[in-house]
Amino acid sequence: MPSELAVEAEGLTKTYKEKVALDGVDLAVPGGTVHGLLGPNGAGKTTAVRILATLTIPDGGRASVAGHDVVSQSRQVRRSIGLTGQQTAVDDLMTARQNLTMFGRLFRLPKAQARRRAEELLELFSLEEAADRSPKRFSGGMRRRLDLAASMILAPQVLFLDEPTTGLDPAGRREVWEAVENLAAQGTTVLLTTHYLDEADKLCDRISVIDHGKNFVEDTPAGLKRRIGEERLEVVAADPAELNRLAELVRSVVGVEVSTDDSQARISVPVPDGVGALTSAAAEIRAQGLAIADIGLRRPTLDEAFLHLTGGSQAVGPQPSQPNTPKTLEETR
Ligand SMILES: Nc1ncnc2c1ncn2[C@@H]1O[C@H](COP(=O)(O)OP(=O)(O)OP(=O)(O)O)[C@@H](O)[C@H]1O
Ligand SMILES: [Mg+2]
Repeated sequence: MPSELAVEAEGLTKTYKEKVALDGVDLAVPGGTVHGLLGPNGAGKTTAVRILATLTIPDGGRASVAGHDVVSQSRQVRRSIGLTGQQTAVDDLMTARQNLTMFGRLFRLPKAQARRRAEELLELFSLEEAADRSPKRFSGGMRRRLDLAASMILAPQVLFLDEPTTGLDPAGRREVWEAVENLAAQGTTVLLTTHYLDEADKLCDRISVIDHGKNFVEDTPAGLKRRIGEERLEVVAADPAELNRLAELVRSVVGVEVSTDDSQARISVPVPDGVGALTSAAAEIRAQGLAIADIGLRRPTLDEAFLHLTGGSQAVGPQPSQPNTPKTLEETR
C-alpha cells in the first residue's frame, strides 16, 4: 500500500568497523512537511541521511522514501530525491545561471528546458541579481542557496539537507532559511539535519532528537520545549564548591531532578510553578545560609531542551536522581 509518509524508517542500524553509527533509528515524515534530525556531532545524522538517500546500505532495519524501499528500489528512490551535502558542487568558472543550466543538462533536460528551469530556480532562491556572476564572489548564504537550487533541478519530492547552514553568518543563515521555507511552501518534503536548535525551531514541523545513533524523542518544537517545562529556575552558586549542596537543596524544594553546569556554577531546573518555586527555593537557601550569586526564572530555549533530552537524558524519565551535567554541543565532539 502506498504510504502517505514521504520518509519512513524502522530500526535502522549501521556499524562502521566496531563504531555503531546508528543503533535503531525510526522516522515517520508525512509528505509536505519539514522534519528535523537534531543531534550533536557524531549522533548519526549524516549516516541516516546517507542511508535514506541510498548512498549507504543499512545493516538492519528498513526505510522507504517516497514509497520506495531504499535498498531494493534504490533507483526509484534516487529519482524522487534531492540531496545537498556539506560540500558544494557548483563550479566557480561558470556563472550561477550557467551552473544551473549545466546541472539541468546533466540531468538530461533538453537545452531549452534546462534554461527555463535555471531561470525558475534563480527566482525561487532570489538569485536573479547574481545570476551572471561567478559563485566565487558569492556570500556563503548565496552559495548555499545556489547549492539548494542545484539540488532542486528535477523538483524532487523529498529533499535532504545535511546541515544547510553550518558555517554561515546570521544573515546567510536567514537567507537559507527563507529558501527552505519557500521550498516547503511549494510542497517539497524536507528532511534536514542540524545542530542548531533555533534552526529546527524555525523551520521544522517536527523534530527527531537523536544521539548515539538512537532516537531520544520526537515532537514539535513547541512540544519539545513543553517537555522540559515552560520555565526554569536558575540558581548560580557564589562559591562553586557549594554547587552540589545547593543542587541537592533545590532538588528537594522543587521535587524534580536538576541540571548542574559546573563551569558556571549554575543549577537549572524546570518548574511548572515558577514564582512558587523561586520563592520557596530562595527562602530555603537563606535558611541554610548558602551564598548565591544569582537566582531567577527563565524560559527555556530549544537548545536547553535538546541538551536536557540528550546530554541530560536521565532527567527525561522518572529515573533515579543524580545531578546531571548538561554537555554543550562543543563538548560532545
Ligand atoms: N565512513 C565511516 N567510517 C567509520 N566511522 C564512521 C563513518 N561515517 C560515520 N562514522 C561514525 O559514525 C558515527 C556517526 O557519524 P555521522 O557522520 O552519522 O554523525 P553526524 O550526526 O552526522 O555528525 P556531525 O554532526 O559531526 O556531522 C560517528 O561516530 C562517526 O565517527
Ligand atoms: Mg553529519
